[in-house]
Amino acid sequence: MNVGERISRSGKPAVVAHRGASGERPEHTLGAYELALAQGADGLECDVRLTADHKLVCIHDRTVERTSNGTGAVSELTLAQLREFDFGSWHSGEPASVLTLDELLTLTLDWRRPVRLFIETKHPVRYGSLVETLLLEELQRFSVASPPSADHSRAVVISFSSAGVWRIRRNAPLLPTILLGDTARVLGGSAATAVGATGIGPSVQTLRTHPELVDRAAASGRVTYCWTVDEQADMQLCADLGVRWLATNYPARVRDWLVTV
Ligand code: G3P
Ligand code: CA
Repeated sequence: MNVGERISRSGKPAVVAHRGASGERPEHTLGAYELALAQGADGLECDVRLTADHKLVCIHDRTVERTSNGTGAVSELTLAQLREFDFGSWHSGEPASVLTLDELLTLTLDWRRPVRLFIETKHPVRYGSLVETLLLEELQRFSVASPPSADHSRAVVISFSSAGVWRIRRNAPLLPTILLGDTARVLGGSAATAVGATGIGPSVQTLRTHPELVDRAAASGRVTYCWTVDEQADMQLCADLGVRWLATNYPARVRDWLVTV
């Protein structure tokens, strides 16, 4: 039995590699995701943005300065221009290319065991709702936009933008979605219900002070995805509360801890 099956059968949280194994490899690079998969992650998380020529790339920030040797806003650069930059050396000294969503979906879906991809749309952005339109087209091309059930979905769209979540629900009603929030005010009210999100995504800081969010979400049939959980006390909190998905920069650390509890 592989780690993913063991974890989901035991009812413990499943492990999502946040930007890949980004504590050990440069975030959002192929190497970070390959390491996470090799370490037994059940899911992968990525942020997506649109380039000037409308390609979806896995980059967190609005600009490329922090994570590459290039300059400029992602939305004003073409994919070809982004491919000229090195997205690895700042972290580990090893060069790495920009990763497209297409490449990450291919890696995820071709992996030898079922792995889920949590795709975060960033808002507000220059191209507005075009992000959701092109994302759904891409998920359709990979045949993952209409899963048989949320539990069997290989893709989950997550966002701090309730409008972004709502656009996905309206156009792909079977696709699971998670409304992210870093305050209990956002996630404790009716926002997730209003946009039809299948889950809520509090930060671990929010969960420490508002653990009741998990039960409240479960009462309305929603799962909880918690980010970013790197410390043992927070792993324990998530396990105790019944958090379904635990996003971490250190998937191996969480995996090793989960086998001891
Ligand atoms: O997985 C959700 C989490 O990634 C949200 O915060 O800023 O790391 O994208 P951020
Ligand atoms: Ca993210």
